[in-house]
Formats: sequence, C-alpha cells, structure tokens
Amino acid sequence: MDKQTSETLTRTGPGTLMGSLMRRYWVPVMSSSEIAAKDGPQVRVQILGEKLLAFRDTEGKVGLISEFCSHRGVSLYFGRNEENGIRCAYHGLKFNRDGKCVDVPSAPQVCDRMGITAYPCVERGGVVWAYMGPADKQPAPPEVEWCGLPAENVFVSKRIQECNYLQAMEGGIDTAHVSYVHRYEVDTDPMHRGCKALDYIKADGNVVFTIEKNPAGLTLFGRRMGDADTYYWRVTHWLFPWFTLIPPFGDHSLAGHVWVPIDDHHCWAWSINFHPGKALSDEERGHMVEGKGIHVEYEAPGSFRPKANRDNDYGMDRTAQQEKRAYSGVFGFSAQDYSLQESMGPIQNHEAELLLPTDKAIVMARRMLVEAAEGLAKGVEPPALDASAQRVRAAGVLLARDADPVAWGRERLTDCNNHPVYSI
Ligand code: FES
Ligand SMILES: [Fe+2]
Repeated sequence: MDKQTSETLTRTGPGTLMGSLMRRYWVPVMSSSEIAAKDGPQVRVQILGEKLLAFRDTEGKVGLISEFCSHRGVSLYFGRNEENGIRCAYHGLKFNRDGKCVDVPSAPQVCDRMGITAYPCVERGGVVWAYMGPADKQPAPPEVEWCGLPAENVFVSKRIQECNYLQAMEGGIDTAHVSYVHRYEVDTDPMHRGCKALDYIKADGNVVFTIEKNPAGLTLFGRRMGDADTYYWRVTHWLFPWFTLIPPFGDHSLAGHVWVPIDDHHCWAWSINFHPGKALSDEERGHMVEGKGIHVEYEAPGSFRPKANRDNDYGMDRTAQQEKRAYSGVFGFSAQDYSLQESMGPIQNHEAELLLPTDKAIVMARRMLVEAAEGLAKGVEPPALDASAQRVRAAGVLLARDADPVAWGRERLTDCNNHPVYSI
C-alpha cells in the first residue's frame, strides 16, 4: 500500500479524511458504568485525537464536552460536576451537557459566546456512544445485535491498544490467524474449549475465503475442511467503519469487537460477548471479569491498560512456547493479538508489507474505507448509515460441500433477530 493511502487510512484527527468519515457514525466512547452516578466524578476521554470530558449530570443525562474551559484553557477535569453542568475550578465558568456556557460569574453578559464543543450521546448495550459529526447528518443509533440485548445477556469490556486502529482492526477481520497464534489457547480457554469446531480449525490452517460486500460492510466466509462430505464455514462480519463480529464456538457466547482510534498511535479495543436468547451464566460472566476469552486483566483497576503489555514483553514464556502451551509464548487471546499488532510499530509500515491471498478481506476493507473517505470529501454520503443493516450475525456451521455458503448466510444471518444461532 502506498504512503498516501496509508496516511488516508490511519490519520483520524479532526479535519482528516478518515477522521471526517468516522465522525459520521456513532462512536463508542466509554462504558456507562464509568460515569454511573448523577453529579459523580467526570472522566477524561480521548477519541479520534480529541481530548474530551464525560460526565453524568443532575438529570442523569450524559454530557461529552471539550476537556478545556473556553476562558483560559484550564482542564475541566479539575472542575465541579454540579447542578446540571461542569463548573471550571479557576474562575467559575459553567458549561452544561450541550457545551453551552450557563454562567460567567464575573461577566454574565458574555455567557452566550463562551460555549465549548459538545457531542450528543446515547447509551446502548452499557456503552456511551457519541456522534461527533455535523449536526444535520446524525444517523439513527447503532443496531449491532449486542447493543439491543438485555443487560444480563451481554458483557462488554475495553482495553487500550498501543498502535493505530487499522492494524488492530485488521486482526479482527483476518480470521486466518486463528489457526496459528491462538492454536493452543482454544483448548484450555473456558469460552472456547470443548467444541467440535476446534478440531476443524486446528486440522486445517489453510482457510479459503469467499468474501461478500453487503450494505454494512463485508461478510467473510472462511472455509476449512469438515468431515468427509462437508466443509466447516466460519462466517464473520466487518461493519463500517470499525465493528467486527466473531462466530461462536459450540454453546459459548457470540462475540464482537469495536476498534476506535484514541489518537493515531492508540486505540480502544472493545470486546463484547453475548447470547441473543439467554442471560450469560454467572460462570461465564466470572471468566470474563477475570480477563479470560477475548477480555484482559488490567495493569491497575480502571487503567484499561492490560497487565500483559509491551513493558513486560506481554509475559512471554519461552518454555510454554516450546511445550506447545502457547503458540507465541503469550497467553490470552487478546494479548496474543495485540502483542503481534503492537510489534508492527505504532503505525505499521504499509509500504513494506507483502500481502498474501488470505489478506483479501483486509484489502477490500481498506479499499472501501478509502473510497468512502475520499468520496465524502467530494460530497458523496458515506455507506452503512442505515443502522438496520448492522443487524447481522456471525456463525460457524458445517455445510455440504456443494452448498452455497453465501446464499445460506443471506437467508439466516441478516436480520438475525429472527433466526437461531448457528454454531458447532
Ligand atoms: S479558565 Fe476556566 S473559568 Fe477561567
Ligand atoms: Fe486473534
């Protein structure tokens, strides 16, 4: 990929091509639980290169405003969250959740022109989502399956990843790597072990992809050898501009990620597990809280930085690698992924990469993102703004060798609420 395309894809700050595209979709900002209490402590959060402050006001509504006071630029993190707004601790200017300045104690007559940036928010799936684009272009709230389910059916966590969002998200699109770096973990992890799919995944590392463009993004059909007359298909989705959906293993929950730029060298990796038709069991939830499956254990509570990180070589254990307990010596699905993705550098050198046939989906997703970003700059409306197109589901299924997986999927995996979960 040439330098200019790489720049287009990886730069997401205000005014950039990709940044402008991403601002046309609802952005996951933080867990609702981080600002659980009305008038509770405000929280700093950086998204798409913008330093913001989130708080829950006296009415229980979420505000997401610029971190800095319009007067002389003091951080409102040090302000007071009181009576439906944040009051700057320096000279007492006060801002409500719409960013409107509602009090200038020393000069009330200038209140109107002291407002700061604010973004509208909704809460879905236990997550605060913000819309950071032009006010007249706000789309309907997200409808990815997990964000419409009852709270007891869903577990959501997030972690900081120390690299550009693109190379992180591409790990979510590229299902070919499951047969390698995650190879041994699947047998022991409580959210993967004990299902038939693992036999097929481990026996056949040469996934053959069929890739379908759809209104929300891409559907990937990864084919591995099944039994004598079948193939094992893993059907995953990438949805504009940052969602990936992962097929379940056996009776374990479905899963997904969202890859959201913090700045160009860091991203939020959101990890979600969910059952469409039933609550997660206490045991499942317990494992997730402990950081099993696609979740992680944190370095410190509330830091959202994983305990296994670049400073400790991700806890790499050469003995475990030799003894075939961890393929790369790193334990944990997420750590296995982000250790490799961070090792590419903060932004992968795309000019030097030599892509392979299994990278086809990544190439398509890149092309779709670049086309959408460049199109938007020329006035073409972005794709996938219709939230109902996000109601797709991943699956793992054995199909007869002559079956058409695309037709099979189109019937059962779109508008997924009306269909059973397909998993082996
Ligand atoms: S800097 Fe905020 S009130 Fe003066
Ligand atoms: Fe992975």
